Amino acid sequence: MSDARGVHSVRDLTIDAARLGSRLAELGAIGATGDGGCARLALTDEDRAGRDLVVTWMHDLGLDVRVDGIGNVVATRPGTEPGPPVMCGSHIDTVATGGIFDGNLGVLSGLEVLETLERAGVATRRPLAVAFFTDEEGSRFSPDMLGSLVYAGGMGVEGAHDIVGIDGRRLGDELARIGYLGSTPCPGQAPYAYVELHIEQGPVLERHGEVIGAVTGVQGISWQELTFEGQFNHAGTTPMAYRHDAGFAVAAVAVAARRIAAELGGHQVATVGKIGLRPDLVNVVAGHAACTVDLRNTDEAVLQEAEALLADEVSCIAAAEGLSVARRELARFAPVEFDQRIVDLVESTAREHGHSVRRLPSGAGHDAQMLARMCPSGMIFVPSVGGVSHNPAERTLPEHVEAGANVLLHMLVRLADEDLVGR
Ligand code: GLV
Ligand code: MN
Ligand code: MN
Repeated sequence: MSDARGVHSVRDLTIDAARLGSRLAELGAIGATGDGGCARLALTDEDRAGRDLVVTWMHDLGLDVRVDGIGNVVATRPGTEPGPPVMCGSHIDTVATGGIFDGNLGVLSGLEVLETLERAGVATRRPLAVAFFTDEEGSRFSPDMLGSLVYAGGMGVEGAHDIVGIDGRRLGDELARIGYLGSTPCPGQAPYAYVELHIEQGPVLERHGEVIGAVTGVQGISWQELTFEGQFNHAGTTPMAYRHDAGFAVAAVAVAARRIAAELGGHQVATVGKIGLRPDLVNVVAGHAACTVDLRNTDEAVLQEAEALLADEVSCIAAAEGLSVARRELARFAPVEFDQRIVDLVESTAREHGHSVRRLPSGAGHDAQMLARMCPSGMIFVPSVGGVSHNPAERTLPEHVEAGANVLLHMLVRLADEDLVGR
């Protein structure tokens, strides 16, 4: 550490919580839904406005800002030595019922860390970078974590451009339309390490009264869309035995998914989050119905069992009702374990700064699980009030935001300055 004021001052350095809080509020005001939440679906006009604001802040800090072919933005502060950066970041797109912390916290905390170091005149040996990755949520364009997946080489950029969203728009066209079809090549440069600060989005830390989560990994994710075709018919005149009711099928899938999760127990979760019926009228038996199923588990073998059980149920439901059924995979990622050294570093850094810590897996998907394909990666969690997220009421207490950002600060400095010898 080449801080003119000596090592002690770096150990005692803290982020500016008020500046971070006001940036979270300012970014959260873009796409505000009027109920405390915000909606900035990937590559919409709202996403563009959010991106523009964050990029302005990056330029104000004098960072080297690059946009790649999938619209990921990476802003770098040079080190005293060349080489791959220690990277932090997350995403700034939201679900349509999003809060202001999901993803945004990791990006704005990273920016805050860089600003804190800049203002204190602290140089690091390795460069530091803060990134925001495109379409982490996957609500508009599947799969989720798309930008970081492409960054890490898990999908080609051309294939990603051809993905069609829920509104029929092509991803590559939308990227160009909002001005974020960049020229930096994908896959991106492998960082030295990647650390993501994120809200927990679940109840565990709050329930145990703990401040920092040292995230051990991310559970596996399986998303599919099921489409049933039956026969539109008159709701009053068609006897029950004569029906080919696609609407009944998606309802039965929702019940089956819930039962499978209960039977498998443990970490298994199952969600039917989207249902569409046609013609969607009170007095017509639905001839067409589609639904999504989100299955997740920390154990890949059990997740596969859940998928197989669901596939059997879907075939039985379709056969019994005389329907055809088509299945489309939207996302499939195996569980990821984070680098043990980074997990340990989250815990030791948090304890050094006086915070209680719990090790826990992540229930949500995160960009860090894609970066883990390229470099030692890990995550810091801070509590979510009431365990609520993907909801306008999503909230994290200011003191927890501050604690998480300070742990991020000290982890980044340590990783950026450490000797490779003995790693
Ligand atoms: C996306 O981040 C998800 O976990 O649904
Ligand atoms: Mn997120
Ligand atoms: Mn999210």
